[in-house]
Amino acid sequence: MSDEQQSGKMWSGRFREPLDAEFENWQRSIGFDWRLLDEEIAASKAHASALLAAKILTKDETTELRKALDAIAAEYTSDAGKAQVRDHATAEDIHHFVELKLVERIGSLGLKLHTGRSRNEQIATDLRLYVRQQITLTHDALIAWAKALVEKAEAADDAVMPSYTHMQRAEPVLVAHCLLAYVEMILRDIARLMDCKARLNYCPLGSGAVAGATLALDRTIVAKELRFAGPTINSIDATSDRDFILEYLQALTFVGLHLSRFAEEITLFATAEFGFITLPEAFSTGSSAMPQKKNPDLTELIRAKVGRIHGAAEAVTLQLKGLPLAYNKDLQETQEQVFAVEFVPQMIRLVARFTTAIEFNRERMNEAAQSGYLNAMAAATYLVHKGIPFRTAHQKIGNAVRFAIEKGVELNALTLDELRQFGEEFEQDFFAAVTLTATLDCHNVTGGTARERVKEALAATLKRLDTLAQEAAHAGS
Ligand code: ARG
Repeated sequence: MSDEQQSGKMWSGRFREPLDAEFENWQRSIGFDWRLLDEEIAASKAHASALLAAKILTKDETTELRKALDAIAAEYTSDAGKAQVRDHATAEDIHHFVELKLVERIGSLGLKLHTGRSRNEQIATDLRLYVRQQITLTHDALIAWAKALVEKAEAADDAVMPSYTHMQRAEPVLVAHCLLAYVEMILRDIARLMDCKARLNYCPLGSGAVAGATLALDRTIVAKELRFAGPTINSIDATSDRDFILEYLQALTFVGLHLSRFAEEITLFATAEFGFITLPEAFSTGSSAMPQKKNPDLTELIRAKVGRIHGAAEAVTLQLKGLPLAYNKDLQETQEQVFAVEFVPQMIRLVARFTTAIEFNRERMNEAAQSGYLNAMAAATYLVHKGIPFRTAHQKIGNAVRFAIEKGVELNALTLDELRQFGEEFEQDFFAAVTLTATLDCHNVTGGTARERVKEALAATLKRLDTLAQEAAHAGS
């Protein structure tokens, strides 16, 4: 073995002077890319197969290499093992770490694995495998949250609440309708993630440092073994592309937005002022000072934590902006940003369990849905059915509302005579047209809050979720 190899560096051949010790340590990535050990091992095993097919390795050598790689993976799976990788004294990065460990185990055969490949393609491959796995975890967590919402919607049955525009009471809606609104957001989030996954699912191995491998490797072998749809198309692009990281982070920013909107609504609805929701004790905390407190820490932390996602997406945008082709060490910086959002799937799983545990205070919501003239639009529609143009009907009901406010009652507590001051079209059937159920059911359109429509929507949503879960089970990765 040459001196350089013994010194443990991968590239010291052309150097005469040692590295500045502080700089050397500063530029290492093992302190964070230790997370990519499994991906690095899987990609290395696949590369060994490609080298066998290219007749660079014998069958025995390939078997020995693959076994040694498996043994390395097994050695560092525990938390203590992971910490050992992270704190390794000399490894520059995860690629170097695996090489060092291979040489420790099987001597110079370990060095042979680097034939025909570059760390530039390795890191690009490891990161694609990593993001693909994170997407799967996020996807599954989102499905769990969507299911929790649908189940809650089913259980809510015909419970009602006010809807709001401008944070002012608008019209009554079914609680289920409101919960299903979040499911729509989640389903769009899932579609975005799946789209990102399909686009990243190509294998950079064989792209070399920039211009393509210097051996005639069959790139389909590695792509297949790693369950990619095929090899990437262009070696310059493949070694310098981190779009998939940015795309993943950007897709996650939508997840973050939706989580934060949900968290904010729950936080508000759990206040004494609203009183719509009772917070589950299992997911709330007390105050060390005020004995009566039950605080919504879960939703508050979610509201704040999603900021990290947006920060990471912004950081990667700025890291990639203006980078010349092809690989630049700048790209190493994108890693920590994508690792920084590893907390997201667990957070979504928590929200799912929290969603199941919240309790709606039906009476309070019902009361709120029936006070404040939330049936005024239904009342105007009643007049429309009597042949009055909506603008005129709006005016007449507006006048009736003003009268009722002054009298301190709701619209349906006015007498027919009182109503007739505002239009002779009012008849006895008015009172049936402005009950709570009539007010709900007059929104009888696809996507509306009429009770039958919401039932249909629930069934359709359940079906869509089943289909998605099945697709995920079949996709395998
Ligand atoms: N740790 C490096 C990264 O994350 C691996 C690639 C190093 N390549 C190189 N030419 N220095 O980007």
